[in-house]
Amino acid sequence: MLNFEYQNPTKILFGKGQIAKISNEIPSDARLMILYGCGSVIANGTMDIVKKALAGRKITEFGGIEPNPDYDTLMQAVAIAKKEKITYMLAVGGGSVIDAAKFISAATFWELGDPWEILKNQGKGIRMVIPFGCILTLPATGSEMNHHAVISRKTRQIALPTASGSQGNAGAVSIHSSIESEKLAFSSEKVFPQFAVLDPVVTFSLPKSQIANGIADAFGHVMEQYLTYPVNANLQDRFAESILKTLIEDGIKSYHEPEDYDSRANLMWCATMALNGLIGAGVPQDWSTHAIAHELTALFGLAHAQTLAIVLPAALLVRRAEKKEKLLQYADRIWNIHDADPEKAIEQAISKTTELFESLGLATRLSRYGITAAQLPEVSAKLLKHGMTGIGERGSVTLEVCEEILHTAL
Ligand code: NZQ
Ligand code: ZN
Repeated sequence: MLNFEYQNPTKILFGKGQIAKISNEIPSDARLMILYGCGSVIANGTMDIVKKALAGRKITEFGGIEPNPDYDTLMQAVAIAKKEKITYMLAVGGGSVIDAAKFISAATFWELGDPWEILKNQGKGIRMVIPFGCILTLPATGSEMNHHAVISRKTRQIALPTASGSQGNAGAVSIHSSIESEKLAFSSEKVFPQFAVLDPVVTFSLPKSQIANGIADAFGHVMEQYLTYPVNANLQDRFAESILKTLIEDGIKSYHEPEDYDSRANLMWCATMALNGLIGAGVPQDWSTHAIAHELTALFGLAHAQTLAIVLPAALLVRRAEKKEKLLQYADRIWNIHDADPEKAIEQAISKTTELFESLGLATRLSRYGITAAQLPEVSAKLLKHGMTGIGERGSVTLEVCEEILHTAL
């Protein structure tokens, strides 16, 4: 097992009715701002429960945080947080709203120039933050109990004026503009939520497609930390395997029976445990699937889990030699595959992974979203721009390997 340090300060309030207790977690003199998304928490009644629990407090509200939260939207919240001298925030929503809280929390006190630098520096330089708690409404990202956030930014790129001379209209200029999207992550110990309420009942209003996304995202998080190479971290391996198996059993049950409390509760806890640092302590971590997936979201607008369902099986196929030992363990312990030929066992395990995503309505091919080989150089250019040229648990996922993965996923 590798050396590790592990600390997770987020307090969890798990189960039915726990939102009623949030007032105990928020300082009584807090200047409080509630953050939420595009209306689901109002439509499903969660916001009413929250407001009842906080009756008598003065609250500033900021809604309209979109999926894949956008920098410009969040900077509006930062301006309000500064103006209202906000001292505590409550994020009510999925990973996008909780990630937004992390960014707003850090950007409000950012003193090193453009707050986009927080993303460019991957969180380095964050000193002061607004403390916050959250109420999770979508089991998927683990953001409710971790210190990571992913933020998107659309910027208009304007090419310099160029003379278009030779056809007799010398002196005329053409100005080209295009919208460029970025999706970058940052991490900082300062942005762990102070508390997170996980009430499975508030997730009953999720459409099936979001449950599928949640299962695929949590599955992807476990695989990034589990499916690398063995370091005799037996407990972490078995933690990871228990999450994968529970996702396959309870996740799928919850997908088909949306109001079954126990399966939803198990799915919710799996998603949190998949990315709260525990299973990643003392083991090598990959994260190249996520790196490629984020570029696909930025370029083509696919949801986070849709991109994972495409990239993960292709990445396992391309990298099966370097991941051989863990792939065989995965085949045996997760899918009960014991083919005498190891190559066949690995192929069957990867096919099972693909079938799992497809059974949840998640396409596993780029072409199913109309993305063609001609568009793949754009993905490579983005990966290069973001320095993703030697990623994965061994740094062996070069641009060429990324390209091979993308071509395999076509
Ligand atoms: O915006 P509203 O109206 O609230 O609707 C949301 C949104 O349309 C809806 N929703 C949420 N809870 C609901 C609900 N609809 C009905 N009933 C409910 N109870 O679901 C839609 C998707 O929400 P979103 O928050 O975007 O989804 P998710 O939780 O999957 O978060 C995705 C974001 O998290 C990032 C992703 O890249 C993406 O930007 N990630 C964050 C990570 C982290 N912080 O550690 C790790 C992940 O790998 C991921 O990258
Ligand atoms: Zn993810």
